[in-house]
Amino acid sequence: MSLIIQNLTKRYGELTAVDNLNIEVEAGEIFGLLGPNGAGKTTTLSMLCCIIEPTSGTAKINGFDIKTQKSQVRKSIGIVFQQPSVDDLLTAKENLELHCMLYGVEQGVRQKRIDEAFSLVELEDRENDLVKTYSGGMRKRLEIARALIHRPSVLFLDEPTTGLDPQTREHMWSYIERLAAEVQMTVVLTTHYMEEADALSDRVCIIDHGKRIALETPEKLKAQMGGDVVYVQAQKIDEKKVKSLSFVRSIKKQDGKFAITMKDAGKNLQKLLGKIGCVESVDVHPASLNDVFIKYTGKSIREEEAAGDYWTRVMNSEKKE
Ligand SMILES: Nc1ncnc2c1ncn2[C@@H]1O[C@H](COP(=O)(O)OP(=O)(O)O)[C@@H](O)[C@H]1O
Ligand SMILES: [Mg+2]
Repeated sequence: MSLIIQNLTKRYGELTAVDNLNIEVEAGEIFGLLGPNGAGKTTTLSMLCCIIEPTSGTAKINGFDIKTQKSQVRKSIGIVFQQPSVDDLLTAKENLELHCMLYGVEQGVRQKRIDEAFSLVELEDRENDLVKTYSGGMRKRLEIARALIHRPSVLFLDEPTTGLDPQTREHMWSYIERLAAEVQMTVVLTTHYMEEADALSDRVCIIDHGKRIALETPEKLKAQMGGDVVYVQAQKIDEKKVKSLSFVRSIKKQDGKFAITMKDAGKNLQKLLGKIGCVESVDVHPASLNDVFIKYTGKSIREEEAAGDYWTRVMNSEKKE
């Protein structure tokens, strides 16, 4: 096991930010920690990276305890947090050289490691440019390159795509995927973009209010939903009548619509609509991780929750230039 989290808890006064978390991650896995803003994702990673102390419980990374073997833990991990930490006034290469020194990467291998890292994130043409000339997406890639320089066995990425535009986000995921395959390391990432985590993660853990609410492969989680989700907008729906249909699994009101989980919408939709009567709109889609989240919490994760962080501002200011 690459990472073992045992009863990990963090309290801030009355608030329990991380609530008795138990997770095991295997070596080489891409593991997604999912949850809305305030769910406790960053707090969890901060404890795992020895940045803050747990209130109780512990974790082992690469066999090292985060409470009692901090320096071994730090050497085993690479971190890319939401707040940027590359130096704007240095060139990209100088940033990586600085990191090599801090982590005691031997002189003899430094150049090779730096070249490899730049090539992995496709920044080799820009390595001598000042970081302040970089776009938001390039900075993030530089941070990833830097986090890899000391060859960590576990890479932690906190919201690696938040605030990036959709195209850059897509690129970012392909880098991460390639990385995990080429460098053979464990990647633990957080995101509130359910669909992205779905595409990339081997397994995901959904957390809400610091609690683990589901942990599985995305495929199994979606399969557990038991079919398709049909969103129906209607003045009124007789929920009892709908539930009495043999192919209907559940019905939940959400954002002014009814989310109906059912088996084989292709075959059964007509029957469903016949039962409902007058509808304003119908939208069918296969169960997604967001549906899984709704099932467990009764609410959906909205995109606008992403707004307001550093990367959003960086990207917006770039668009204006
Ligand atoms: N230093 C702190 N002091 C008090 N409360 C905090 C602190 N850091 C985080 N929190 C609270 O803990 C909860 C979890 O936060 P966080 O881990 O940042 O969530 P996420 O990363 O999932 O958005 C939130 O309610 C947040 O306000
Ligand atoms: Mg966070």
